[in-house]
Amino acid sequence: MILAPLRGVTIRCFRRTFATEIAEAGFDEAVTPFITATGEYDPLSDRELKGGEFIRITPQFIGKDPLVLRRCLERIKGAGFVTADLNAGCPFPMVRRKGRGSGLLRTPDVLERMLETGCEVMGDGNFSLKTRLGVERADELLGLMPLLNRFPLRFVVVHARTARQMYDGDCDLRAFKAIKEVAAMPVVYNGDVALPAEGSVMVGRGFVRALGERDDADTLVMRYVEASVQELFGERSVLGRIKELVSYWKEIPKWRRRWNLVKIASTLDELRLAVGV
Ligand SMILES: Cc1cc2nc3c(=O)[nH]c(=O)nc-3n(C[C@H](O)[C@H](O)[C@H](O)COP(=O)(O)O)c2cc1C
Repeated sequence: MILAPLRGVTIRCFRRTFATEIAEAGFDEAVTPFITATGEYDPLSDRELKGGEFIRITPQFIGKDPLVLRRCLERIKGAGFVTADLNAGCPFPMVRRKGRGSGLLRTPDVLERMLETGCEVMGDGNFSLKTRLGVERADELLGLMPLLNRFPLRFVVVHARTARQMYDGDCDLRAFKAIKEVAAMPVVYNGDVALPAEGSVMVGRGFVRALGERDDADTLVMRYVEASVQELFGERSVLGRIKELVSYWKEIPKWRRRWNLVKIASTLDELRLAVGV
């Protein structure tokens, strides 16, 4: 079971702070929220890759330039990372229109060169792809499977939605099955999986929500506050991070009222009062 990349949420500080809970839930690996593969950016300077983790980490990159991807992958490989992942699923129109994230599904020639580069640098069976069923239609990825099948990919994670759907609406299990049937590599299911889960799945929001269901959720929040204070400058950034986490719990009865207070907290003292510890 793989912990999904949720930018701003399942970040390194989260993974370190909740390492026990992550392990207990049955995760054996985490894919990092995307790291941008553009320009001269050094992936090793990214906070995501600073180490000190208790779970196997697969760095994820977003980009469309094979040469830049190559440089990034060589850097992380040199630092000891064995696996890496390419983001071909990010649905945001700004990203997609520039041909990154899910936009790669519409530029097969670029996707092909990115996969070629990834497999070549990381080696057979060490590079993976995280994607969606398509941009507008649920059969677009299916049409690309002959291309994907040519590469010795570690696996393909398929979020069973189109980019147009963003994060809502039903997942399309039939379209997912159609991909699995023709895939030459392992296919990992992703989308709305609740815990406990088993098998080859990637879980994101379901795990974050499950943390909020716990009796000790309030102490978990305060643990995250302490860890974030160590890492970030200023209360404002810490508050932003914590609010992002607690926003996943707003439908949980015990947190509904607390969330209303948490979201307006403007200092850490107010936050502590709102959380009730
Ligand atoms: C806030 C947020 C941030 C996300 N960031 C990333 C990301 O950096 N890379 C990526 O591949 N997917 C990202 N995703 C998509 C998730 O990894 C996952 O595919 C999606 O949430 C569906 O799985 P879930 O229902 O288990 O959460 C993000 C999703 C959300 C809600």
